Amino acid sequence: MNDDKGKKYHTITYGCQMNENDSERLAGQLKALGYEETGRLEEADVILVNTCCVRESAEKKIHGKIGELKRLKTANPNLIIGVAGCMAQKDRDRLFKRAPHIDLVLGTHNIHQLGDIITELNQSRGRVLAVWDQAERLASDVPTVRKNNIAAWLPIMYGCNNFCTYCIVPYVRGRERSRPLGEVVAEAAALAARGVREITLLGQNVNSYGKDEADHADFADLLTAVDAVDGIARIRYMTSHPRDMNARVIDAVKNSRHVCEHFHLPIQAGSDAVLKAMNRGYTAADYRRLVASIRTAVPGASLTTDIIVGFPGETEAMFADTLGLMAEVRFDAAYTFLYSQRSGTPAAAMPDQIPLPVKKERLRRLMDLQNGISLEVNRGLVGTKAEVLVEGESKNDANKMMGRTRTNKIVIWDRTGGEKAGDLVTVAIDAAQTWVLKGTLV
Ligand code: 5AD
Ligand code: SF4
Repeated sequence: MNDDKGKKYHTITYGCQMNENDSERLAGQLKALGYEETGRLEEADVILVNTCCVRESAEKKIHGKIGELKRLKTANPNLIIGVAGCMAQKDRDRLFKRAPHIDLVLGTHNIHQLGDIITELNQSRGRVLAVWDQAERLASDVPTVRKNNIAAWLPIMYGCNNFCTYCIVPYVRGRERSRPLGEVVAEAAALAARGVREITLLGQNVNSYGKDEADHADFADLLTAVDAVDGIARIRYMTSHPRDMNARVIDAVKNSRHVCEHFHLPIQAGSDAVLKAMNRGYTAADYRRLVASIRTAVPGASLTTDIIVGFPGETEAMFADTLGLMAEVRFDAAYTFLYSQRSGTPAAAMPDQIPLPVKKERLRRLMDLQNGISLEVNRGLVGTKAEVLVEGESKNDANKMMGRTRTNKIVIWDRTGGEKAGDLVTVAIDAAQTWVLKGTLV
């Protein structure tokens, strides 16, 4: 059966956590065929590029990477090169035209077919285009190879029904489909049994979990059910939509033991006119009220966000509203993006597209403001103690260790020798930077 024993694969992943998880499922199918992972592109028999198309900058980088793979194919004609994920779903056979050295284009709804397709390609070479227009089944039951044994992704739903006017995601990931609650809880328990300490529940809009499910369990019910699984130290979730975040979910977080005190609530813009044009379904005032209720219910919770600058029609005054809201809310961190025109989305056809230099200048002002706030917020933590889940050695210094607080802040401390990955330890915070806290193990 295992014709492919001794063969090697290499995966390259771009984009969001959902893509990271899909790559684990791609790797799992290759492993089941007998393939082993290699870190070296030159010795791979199969190379998979799992792609993102949320912004043009990601696409450019990916096209560059795919181009680089051509020399490997020339050197080894038996090499199989596959392009999977969102760009594959969007561009389909156009990818073959652009890069004739690609053997396989695998859409977002076809992830589970990789094993069969590779077997087929090994028997008779040719090009394979596997891109379904919609999901015929959930790919959650395919084998998974996880790189990280401490923290695991757990998809709870796929797709998105929101159609924010700038966003390509609903077109490449399809309509919302939730996994049954029992299945998610069983997978969480299986992960716990394998020693996983932290689980991140994944979905494009986790707050609408269950709306399409027969038993009508909602996201608050799911959080409560996963919280009751023995052995999981921490539960996180991504991504929340401010319109659908409600008191039931906030209460579930507050009353749980393991759900972390971190709320990632992408606001996208602080101007009501822009929010309306984005089809976000809330106003800046709604968002302020939401933040206030979170901070009342869960004191000490951290709050992070995503913001897009230069949405079509954004005036200097509208942008000033975003700056004003940022200064008022005082996020722990913000992921900020230049608006990127995605063809096929409503915003791409809107008048008054903003020139790139204006977008860049706004982004700079926004980042400067947020960096100052992040540093101030972090300085406020100096002198406190934090529970930290040890992730491992610090990347830059083998004498230091790295982990995260429940509020998702990175903490670095001098290794004592007693701590190992997966431990929950207490760290006294001695110093703060914009993106990291430094401390001493207690
Ligand atoms: N341009 C820029 N940023 C975008 N995002 C989504 N679509 C676009 C786009 N067309 C951002 C949003 C989202 C994050 C994942 O990516 O802020 O929350
Ligand atoms: Fe895109 Fe909006 Fe769906 Fe997020 S919620 S994936 S921004 S359409």
